[in-house]
Amino acid sequence: MIDLINPNVRELMPYKAGRPVEEIQRLYNIEKVIKLASNENPYPVPQYVADAISGELANIHAYPCSDSYYLRERIARYNGVKPGNVVVGSGSVELIRMIAKTFLNPGRGDKVLTSDKTFVMYKIAAVEEGGNRAIVEIPLGADYRYDLDRMVDAVDKQTKIIFIANPNNPTGTLLSKKELQAFIDKIPGDVIIVLDNAYQEYVTAAGDEVAASDYFDGIETAVARKNIIVLRTFSKIYALAGLRVGYAIAHEEVISYLGRVKAPFNVTRLAQVAALASLQDDEFKNKSARLNAVNRERLFQRLSRLGLEVVPSKANFILFFPRTDTNDLNERLLKEGVIIRPLHGFGFPDGIRVTVGTQEENDFFMEKLEKVFKEMNRGLN
Ligand SMILES: Cc1ncc(COP(=O)(O)O)c(C=O)c1O
Repeated sequence: MIDLINPNVRELMPYKAGRPVEEIQRLYNIEKVIKLASNENPYPVPQYVADAISGELANIHAYPCSDSYYLRERIARYNGVKPGNVVVGSGSVELIRMIAKTFLNPGRGDKVLTSDKTFVMYKIAAVEEGGNRAIVEIPLGADYRYDLDRMVDAVDKQTKIIFIANPNNPTGTLLSKKELQAFIDKIPGDVIIVLDNAYQEYVTAAGDEVAASDYFDGIETAVARKNIIVLRTFSKIYALAGLRVGYAIAHEEVISYLGRVKAPFNVTRLAQVAALASLQDDEFKNKSARLNAVNRERLFQRLSRLGLEVVPSKANFILFFPRTDTNDLNERLLKEGVIIRPLHGFGFPDGIRVTVGTQEENDFFMEKLEKVFKEMNRGLN
């Protein structure tokens, strides 16, 4: 069998997703289970989005619009660009894979450059196309942030794509507008820079004007230059993770090449109408971002009070180091009905990432965490 497998696929470590609530309920025979493992928005979508989805049910016998025509138009208007600058994907994960497929030529020794301890799909997409040789990961720098200077130094003739998550997952750390603009200026024009802004709104819509004005959304640059691609998603702030829809903004020529590797009908009818309705107004987005900021701060303080190292986050999740066996801690929390994310796959074997939930969910998580720490005889402060 192994001889039949594409060598790149042999080298691939599969993406390990957070386990679903239903699975834990069944496995441990418990009713109350909360999931704080995949950075989803804990609040349900507004009624007008739910109505758009129900209204579309009558049409699901027919394929969706293959190029998400109306959604692209809406996204373009929302971002002040042309529809030709937008391609819609089945989540931004599909777009990451499309970018790798479009720009990487492994026969030429092309490589993807990114940080270590970042979103694992960058590595997966690179290895899919070119095996382990196709990925270069620069260690995170001080304060759990991307080390942009070392990344600039690492660029060589084989570098074809650079992926940057801002804020970064799983650290929640941010790069400033100035830092990113200076970085872009130092990168040759024939290297594609992907700005993955999946958690952008948690910075820009939380009511903090200073933070918002220091955020680099990259849209203007992406439209003007041919080597910048901005990724956005409806999975986080718009609470549509279950429908899978995201988009890329770039120069029209870049978008046209990405379109060549896009699967036909890649975004479902329900996803298209839901995303379109989501852009109707910003109230839900702003409210979600504001609530997240308040609840994140409370969670940060409570974790810090336990004497743990907690990384200050600008996103909707928090990285902390429990100073105990994270597999054991994870198993015990699962039995208590709490799903969090141990980070072995992200290169932090000692770290746990917890998504900021509702206030009630965060209280439940903290109650169970303290209980489990006591069981493990782990000295609390
Ligand atoms: C940095 C980053 N980019 C992209 C994604 C994937 O988002 P989507 O649901 O749009 O595929 C995630 C999901 O966790 C993420 O953390």
